[in-house]
Amino acid sequence: MRTPYSRLLFAFILVLGFQLTLTSTSSAQFEWPDKSENLQVLPETIDGQQLSRIMRGWTNALGVRCSYCHVGQGPLSEYDFVADDKEAKEKARAMVRMTRTINMEYIRELSELEGTSQERVEVNCMTCHRQVTKPMRLDQVLAQTFETDGIDEVFTHYDELREAYYGGSAYDFREGVLTRLAEQLSQQGNQEEALNVLEKEIELHDEFADVYGVQGQIWEKLENTENAIASYEKGKSLSSPRGSRWFQEQIDKLKSP
Ligand code: HEC
Ligand code: HEC
Repeated sequence: MRTPYSRLLFAFILVLGFQLTLTSTSSAQFEWPDKSENLQVLPETIDGQQLSRIMRGWTNALGVRCSYCHVGQGPLSEYDFVADDKEAKEKARAMVRMTRTINMEYIRELSELEGTSQERVEVNCMTCHRQVTKPMRLDQVLAQTFETDGIDEVFTHYDELREAYYGGSAYDFREGVLTRLAEQLSQQGNQEEALNVLEKEIELHDEFADVYGVQGQIWEKLENTENAIASYEKGKSLSSPRGSRWFQEQIDKLKSP
């Protein structure tokens, strides 16, 4: 049975505990406003719960944190969400307008063309962004890295992106992407660099036949018939019957006097 003393102690602990939670929450707890002050693209009638869903959606779609668009650091209660200081916040507004126009004007037009009123697939932030701020294909990103920083940086960048994004939907790390980049570099006259990129593809996907087709063509451009034939032979050994016929044709062409 409880003595009055232990009952008192128990009550004291309860009060203390309650006060502790009160003080710790009152300084750090962020509350979504039911009445926002500075909405220019979202409906002003939006409540805290709806705003929370939208903001968390944008944060996820772009793979960022709140601070990408809003001024502040540390606990959210210390952010200034009303301020328009960050360029990214303005850009996000432009994107909301764009997305709306796509859906309301262009996507809806499909129903008019079909003469139906069926539910349409709508575009949203994630459709394009897939958790990156600048939605680009991996080979585009790497081609840009090549332009600005050169071939060594392409490999560093590839490894960094693979480390950070492998398994996600942002970038395609499957076979073929580096081969496409190599083709582009080769077309621009960068044969050595293109061959290096193909080496990387082979390192990661050595059973991918197409890479040897592109490699053979680059060796041909460099007038290295022996290496070109070796590449085509390798591709032939990995190809489907239809593909291997193409490789055989290249070999025959090079071997005929
Ligand atoms: C991609 C940019 C972006 C990200 C990321 C983002 N926001 Fe926002 N946020 C905006 C924009 C733009 C508005 C204003 C919308 C408008 O003009 O209708 C806004 C408005 C708000 C408001 C209303 C402020 C007011 O006017 O009273 C709050 C609160 C808010 N955001 C919180 C957050 C929180 C918390 C996060 C992180 C979970 C977040 N936002 C992430 C762009 C962003
Ligand atoms: C149709 C494709 C598409 C959709 C839909 C889309 N975006 Fe974008 N967004 C882009 C592209 C492309 C860029 C990069 C443009 C550039 O920098 O040249 C971009 C850039 C941005 C940027 C600027 C990034 C930076 O730091 O420069 C923000 C912020 C942004 N989008 C937010 C959003 C939000 C929020 C949505 C949903 C309401 C959205 N976007 C929907 C294609 C899209």
